[in-house]
Amino acid sequence: MARSPVVCLALLLAASCGGGDSAPSVRSNSEEVQGRREEVKVAGESSADSSGEVMRLLRSMDDTDLEVRWRAEFALGRVSPYGIRSLADALRDENPRIRLAAAFVLGAQGKRAKPATTALIDALADKEGGVRTWAAQALGDIDPDDYRISSALTKALHDPLPDVRRVCLTILTRLGPRAAEAVPALIDLLQDADAGIRARSCVAFREIGPDGKAGIAALVARLADPDSIVRDRAAEALAKVGPDGVPALARALKERDPNVRRLAAEVLGAFGGESRSADAELNEAAKDPDAAVQKAATEALRRVKNDAGDAASMRGTTFIESPDAVARRSAGYKWAKFGLFVHWGIYSVPARAKPGQQSEWLMENEQLSVKEYEHFALNFGAENFNPAEWAKLANETGARYLVLTAKHHDGFCLWNSKLTPYSAARFAPAKRDLVGELAAACGKADVKFCAYYSLLDWHHPDYGPNFPKYVEYAHGQIGELLANYPLWGLWLDGEWGHTVDDWKGGDLITLLRQSKPDAFINDRLGRESRGTIAGVDFYTKETDVPATILRMQSRPTAWEAAQTFGHSWGYVESSDPLKSAERVIVEMVDAVSKGGNFLLNIGPRPDGTIPDALRERMKIIGAWLQKNGDSIYDTDRSPFNGRIPAGRVSVKGSRLFVFLEEYPKDGIITLPGLKTKIREAWVLDGKRELQVRDTGIQAPDLIEGSPVTVVAIELEGVPEVKK
Ligand code: GLC
Repeated sequence: MARSPVVCLALLLAASCGGGDSAPSVRSNSEEVQGRREEVKVAGESSADSSGEVMRLLRSMDDTDLEVRWRAEFALGRVSPYGIRSLADALRDENPRIRLAAAFVLGAQGKRAKPATTALIDALADKEGGVRTWAAQALGDIDPDDYRISSALTKALHDPLPDVRRVCLTILTRLGPRAAEAVPALIDLLQDADAGIRARSCVAFREIGPDGKAGIAALVARLADPDSIVRDRAAEALAKVGPDGVPALARALKERDPNVRRLAAEVLGAFGGESRSADAELNEAAKDPDAAVQKAATEALRRVKNDAGDAASMRGTTFIESPDAVARRSAGYKWAKFGLFVHWGIYSVPARAKPGQQSEWLMENEQLSVKEYEHFALNFGAENFNPAEWAKLANETGARYLVLTAKHHDGFCLWNSKLTPYSAARFAPAKRDLVGELAAACGKADVKFCAYYSLLDWHHPDYGPNFPKYVEYAHGQIGELLANYPLWGLWLDGEWGHTVDDWKGGDLITLLRQSKPDAFINDRLGRESRGTIAGVDFYTKETDVPATILRMQSRPTAWEAAQTFGHSWGYVESSDPLKSAERVIVEMVDAVSKGGNFLLNIGPRPDGTIPDALRERMKIIGAWLQKNGDSIYDTDRSPFNGRIPAGRVSVKGSRLFVFLEEYPKDGIITLPGLKTKIREAWVLDGKRELQVRDTGIQAPDLIEGSPVTVVAIELEGVPEVKK
């Protein structure tokens, strides 16, 4: 039986939330349980702030009843700033379950948990592994760029528990070159007993780039790793760390293991002319007894000669279209602003992820064979899938579009593809065309429907060995989606292993533009092309929006931030602290104030039901948008080039919106550099007029219970701001 996605804290302490009969009973109707549920439900309706209340809720996180647990988590996600301090104190409680629960819920708070930073850093030395794991996670969500935090996480890379090491690695990887301080620890992790961790440390080196050169020798050694994923990641990392690796790679061309020789040749090829000093060794390798090595070395020599490294092959499309079509699409995309992302597939059946992992990556996380993984499809029944109800939920949440994973990296299709039997319609007991049904229901509910399609495919036999044939398959499938469903957009992913040219990205854009001129396409079309490729409609970013967005602001292309409630995108039954609705609203406001769209993800269960813990949060977001949607939909980014002292800003024509999270200093909203005259100002929710003064606008009291109070300011024209 499927369990709900909330904290199974009792089991967590035993360091596992796996399946089995030990799951607490979901249905318990005794009056006593009802009473406990009611109590935590009430607590979730306001924001707890006394330490007594916080402690009571923390204890409820250990309740035998599932609903009591998720409601307690829900309530703790909304505590007041004072409550955050109580949670920090609870990290020092003598009861390990209380400490664990506190670390766990602090992980859902994001930057709000900042006052708990010191306590969380101390908790990295807790006796209990679970406490250390969730403390690390929480610190990463506060601000991994904070030096105190990044050094503490770097130190924790040597934690005895793999979960802690994995979480720290995942967070530090997101820092890219700013994680260079961690290089010595990362070199140690390249020898970790856990293959997943070795692979992740390679990814960390890839993201660090040239500053990771101290790791070259250790990375070259990984080309001989017993695990093929580690070998591939090591090669990718070496390519990014750069040509300082040429001498070591030239030596590796003489290793006994043909895999090592082939990968070394491939990396040398990626450097183009910079591998010139390895000419002699490459010439030798071009005569290698192993055919794959020969091929890689010959290709590398060609690149060395022509100096055609990977960067040169990054081209977009040549498809020329009318400016009208482009303008129409971009207006439509801006109008929509907020979408719902749905990750649904057979990974929703096992629904598990260790801390620092994502459930939809299960096949790779656990190195499952195609056969082992296919087995999960037997329980993908979609028995309770009600597409009209999903579309209604999207509407109620305020989402104007919905993106469904028609195919994720596992290759399993949610529509009845003619090109493979591996689909919900033919391979799984669902026996339904889920894409078709949801597209139709969305159409009726006026929610724009988009398909997510993963180019990467762990299931298709041609993906690795016969790549050009696989590309034909992928184009064929995308053609099916375009021909058979009313797509408003095509959301690609999983492109990173190959270049735009390998994917024939230009042809894909042409295919889309010809069959659906009003449909969008995102930027995940080829290795290293995100955020730069021409000819697409929007750039995508996930989770690390604040760090990267400033670079994007200077570009005209639209962009979108994708965020999920937990750490996984697919459904998880094991623990995964869920962000509060309030935190998600702030994330949405952040993206919108920077000109982005916001795509909020949910993971339904395999039967098609959507967990109540998510629904409750979506209800709050929908209610906030009902009142404040004018400041979100169809708006542009702040004309002030970022925040003003009072908070974030968006604009629609001559109307500014200021998003207040705190009461502004001196009680005045100042608008630095604004040259346009102010006509009037009011609180958006409730329409209360505000006094306009010479210095700015009299700030209103903040709306109780709302994470953001929006002030609308009507100007005499479009805002002009002194730069
Ligand atoms: C990342 C995840 C993937 C998810 C996607 C959504 O690429 O690895 O599983 O589908 O983000 O943007």
